[in-house]
Formats: sequence, C-alpha cells, structure tokens
Amino acid sequence: MDIIPSGQTLGARVQAIDLAMPLTDADLRTLLRALGQHGVLCFPNQTFDTQAFAAFAHRFGDLEVNVANLFHEPDLPEVMILSNQVRPDGKPVGLNDAGQGWHTDMSYSRDIALANVLHAQAVPMRNGKSLGETQFRNMHAAYDELPDDLKHKLEGRTATHDFEKFWEVMRQRPGSRRPALTEEQKRKKPPVSQPLVRIHPLTGRKVLYANPGYTMWIDGMDPHESGMILDYLFRHQERADFLYAHHWAVGDVLMWDNIGTVHNAVADYMPDEHRYMRRAQVMATLDYPALVA
Ligand code: OGA
Ligand code: MN
Repeated sequence: MDIIPSGQTLGARVQAIDLAMPLTDADLRTLLRALGQHGVLCFPNQTFDTQAFAAFAHRFGDLEVNVANLFHEPDLPEVMILSNQVRPDGKPVGLNDAGQGWHTDMSYSRDIALANVLHAQAVPMRNGKSLGETQFRNMHAAYDELPDDLKHKLEGRTATHDFEKFWEVMRQRPGSRRPALTEEQKRKKPPVSQPLVRIHPLTGRKVLYANPGYTMWIDGMDPHESGMILDYLFRHQERADFLYAHHWAVGDVLMWDNIGTVHNAVADYMPDEHRYMRRAQVMATLDYPALVA
C-alpha cells in the first residue's frame, strides 16, 4: 500500500490496497501507526459490501452498537446508516444529522473508541463540488500548544462527559427528528469521568481529550473556573493550524482517530441532495501499544 500524507496537520490517503481482502497482521500494524501519525486516513474507491466493511473495521477493535441505534443495516446492528434520504413511505433511511457540532465519538462512554470508519455510498454534489465535508482538529497539536501553566493545571484532572448533552442540543434544533432519550438509554450511558489529558495508545504522546459536544465540567473544580477553562480549551481547539477538512467522494472509506481528534459534520446540503454513509465505531479494545511496537 502507499500512504500519502496530506501535508496538513492531519490526513493521509492510503492507496493500492483493496479493503475487501483480509488485512494481514503487517498491514494492520502499518495502518494503526498511520492512524496515530495522520489521524484521518482516506482509502479511495473501495467497493466492498457491508459484511466486508464490518469485517475490515473489526480488525481494529470491537464494534459498538450505538445506544440510540435508530438506523442500521438489516441483521448488522453494528453498521449504522447516516443519511438524509427518505423512503417513498416517508420513513427516513438513516440518521440525518449525525455529528453536526464539534465532538469526539464515544467520549461519553466509560470504554472509549479508537476510531470511526465511514464508507461513502452517496455524496451530495453541486456545481461539480462535493458538499457535506467532515472537519477534524488535531488534539496532539492542541495539547502541545497549550501554555505550560495550563498543562500543569490539567495534569491528573478529569472531566465529566454526558451523551445527553449533544443529543439534547441536536434535538432542540428546528426540524429535529430525534426523540427524547428514554430512561433506559440514559441508564445505559450515564455521565462518566475521563482524563482531560491522556496518553494516546498509538503514539505514546499526550492528547487533549475534551470536546464541546459532550464535556460538561472539570471534576472537583469551582464551577466558574471549570467553565472558564473549558471555554478557553474549546477556543484554543479552533486554531486554524489544527484544522483539516475531508471532502468526500463516493467510494471513500474514511477512518479517523477518536482519541487524538475532534470532528464536525458540515450540513451545507439540501434534503434533495443525498448523502449516505455506512458507519462502524471501533472501540479501543486491543493492546495497541503492543500492536504498534
Ligand atoms: C459520526 C460523525 C460525521 C459525518 O459518524 O460520528 O460525526 O460527516 N459523522 O458524517
Ligand atoms: Mn461523530
């Protein structure tokens, strides 16, 4: 395979590899290292079916069945459908507003995710340009560029993350189709504490692990100070040199690091401009430092 870095803060294209074929252990190691180094990997022109897509993702760790789990492939609950398409009977085909706001997948979960994998089946196009880009920010760089006194202050601290925070923000938007979370869903995903700074299992380097989507407060800190620091961190993440955008093409498989990046889906397309993604969330369930050593 050929790995071609974007030359920007994140992103690489991985070419001359057919993901329909089983990955060798050597390929898995190469891809894990590349994921740590580049954060966002694009495998263009992939044509495998849903089963093979899930099998590819599964090599990197266990697959999560989403707690809200409204839309998934028949008989494959671990493959979610993101789409704004609607069936003739009016029923939506997929989740139509996934990820529209800066967040990190699964930071609200006690067990966190390593990576999310999307396979583009339909991409909205207008005037020859693709719409619905996905944006990323580099949390290795964001940590490195924090002032020393703040690094010191965050060391050993945890923050509370809550699934319901982002869900409710999305639900309050005009036209949202999201129902209120049930008590059972809330019980399954109670608020959890996560370290604010963690060692990335693929790079061995520190990352800033906080995101506007799910992070509520810094534990054990005066609420005013906690709010000030989180505001500062979220503004800091907005630095232009931390940003990378992926412009989709049909057939792209995109794998992104869910420990060392935050991301945001840009909703700049209309209901009749169709987007359709298969999605598999890879939980961080393997011994990655051993795999990349
Ligand atoms: C997600 C997500 C972004 C997109 O699947 O978790 O944020 O652009 N998707 O679809
Ligand atoms: Mn997401």
